[in-house]
Amino acid sequence: MTPLFVANWKMNKGLAEAREFSSEFTALFKSTGQVDAGIAPVLSSFQTLKESLGELDGLMLGGQNVHWEVNGAHTGEISVGMLAELGAKFAIIGHSERREFYGETDEAVAKRTAAALAGGLTAIVCVGETQQQFEAKETEKVVRDQLKGSLAKVEVKDPSSLVIAYEPVWAIGTGLAATPEIAQNVHQLIREELAGIIGKDSAAKTRILYGGSTKPENIAELMEKPDVNGALVGGASLKAESFNSLIEAGRAADK
Ligand code: 13P
Repeated sequence: MTPLFVANWKMNKGLAEAREFSSEFTALFKSTGQVDAGIAPVLSSFQTLKESLGELDGLMLGGQNVHWEVNGAHTGEISVGMLAELGAKFAIIGHSERREFYGETDEAVAKRTAAALAGGLTAIVCVGETQQQFEAKETEKVVRDQLKGSLAKVEVKDPSSLVIAYEPVWAIGTGLAATPEIAQNVHQLIREELAGIIGKDSAAKTRILYGGSTKPENIAELMEKPDVNGALVGGASLKAESFNSLIEAGRAADK
């Protein structure tokens, strides 16, 4: 399966910085002929980024969240249709920062995911345990429960449009990535749990990304693991050169 490397810019890069990034990135990025990279910018930079990246083959743009309703009284939200109209191909859903700081529940994640898939977007659904849960050895239970809750009643017709991101909260922005062994163990249990939800064949075709302090120097050892199919990248995606190096090293190390 084609690996996937997605930049989550979080609340970073307004117009000027997005433009600067795209002129550097356009000069560096080489498509493999498959779409294997994505950027989720702040929405105010979306259009500019789209124009300045031109028709860069192999790269898609997406949102950092998406709502399940078509429109209405939902201050601060954006619908699937509105994202798609901008040219978005995917949406990140249930990121731990949304779960932790903005009260995002599994139930809301499931509604967002169902709407994204029904509207033709790829849904990147995030799961992951906190440091406290990790220390209490609750990772397996937390991740299985989040996955079940986040995909409850979600119809997955095409497994290539569902992507799961395992992001241990203790590894996000800390410089302390999960070891490849930890990542593989959790990715394996995610695939197993997924098989119970969407069927074994679909689970085998679903990409599972790792996120949390990935960088060009540590992506290869992660990508060598059988169930690691790419990365969701925060800090290392903010510089064109480091994001591109991470993509290249990740591609080269993919099984
Ligand atoms: P870092 O790569 O900065 O640890 O962030 C990971 C993340 O949260 C991506 O969604």
